[in-house]
Amino acid sequence: MSQSRVRHSDIEVGKALPWDVYDEKGTLLLRKGYLINNEGQVDRLVAVGVFADSNALRQSRIAQVEAEDSEPEASPAQEWLDLRKKMELLYENVELTIQSGQFISRITEIARCVDNLCGAKPELAQAIISLRQDGRYSSRHLLDSATIARLAARDLKLTPAREFGLICAALTMNLGTTCFQDEIKAQSTPLTDEQKERLHKHPEEATTRLKSMGVNDPIWLRAVLEHHEHFDGTGYPNGTAGHELSPEGQILRLADIYCARITFREYRSAVPLTVALRGILLERGKTVDQTLAAQFIRAVGIFPPGLQLRLANGEKGVVVRPGSSPNHPLVVSLIGNDGLPLSPPLQRDTQNPLYGVGETIDPATFNAYVDIDSIWG
Ligand SMILES: [Fe+2]
Repeated sequence: MSQSRVRHSDIEVGKALPWDVYDEKGTLLLRKGYLINNEGQVDRLVAVGVFADSNALRQSRIAQVEAEDSEPEASPAQEWLDLRKKMELLYENVELTIQSGQFISRITEIARCVDNLCGAKPELAQAIISLRQDGRYSSRHLLDSATIARLAARDLKLTPAREFGLICAALTMNLGTTCFQDEIKAQSTPLTDEQKERLHKHPEEATTRLKSMGVNDPIWLRAVLEHHEHFDGTGYPNGTAGHELSPEGQILRLADIYCARITFREYRSAVPLTVALRGILLERGKTVDQTLAAQFIRAVGIFPPGLQLRLANGEKGVVVRPGSSPNHPLVVSLIGNDGLPLSPPLQRDTQNPLYGVGETIDPATFNAYVDIDSIWG
């Protein structure tokens, strides 16, 4: 009997195990039907390293991916979290899904959901990226980048077909290297020469794999190939420069770097959204096209929804949406100037000098729970 290692996502808390579980020497540890009661049990099993029959495991993974399609109606924030889970499952089983010929149809289905959710509640789509940073980084990052790229593309008035190609490109830009992306995301030391070489080849690797699965949309393929190219020609893999680059490839690059910077990493905090935008501003005319960078920043907003900040009166809150002018967002205050939670939270118009925008807050030190559905749902 061939056995494969059990992953965290294979075990569902509160459900009976669908297969027997063994240790690495083949000793039976838990029988099929055993009920796992909490996340801690799952963590311990996965940390020790447990195994199950490969065929049984494969069947339960396929069933898990298919079951995602028949979930009951969820809140808007939950819809995003479900989509994240769907991406995570897809990428955890990426080779299996490619072999079964379903990878591209799964990606286009997720791309349609991204398009619909961004269209329905664009501010919620933006806010959830910075306010809920859980789950596996590599697949979440692809979904976050697709979201930001879609919002920027709409602002830049790309045609629906170009927009859709761009979303699909964001969801597949690191195909073949997602595990590697997780590995280097957790690494605090500089990349080795071998890692650099692998990184430099990944846009071509992803493009080749997409073509082999029948993708022939030039927007999609070009954006994946060019998502690490720089306007001044210092990028990779081909060093393509200036207006030889497609706008979709450059939008994807901006979405990719913006989302990477606002994400918490093992060795550093996430930077506030405004700091990430300032970083892009500094790159204007160098690694990114001046006009496109300015348009991207306008689309994301100088004060993006979800940004955590302090107001002039000492309250702490999050940006809900743009206000009467780009410099005066609408904010919901969650913590009073006495440091205690405000119940209920209070809407503040930063146009009023009393509630004027103060400094942005390091996301790691913002210790209030933000109920996304009640603010943006
Ligand atoms: Fe990449």
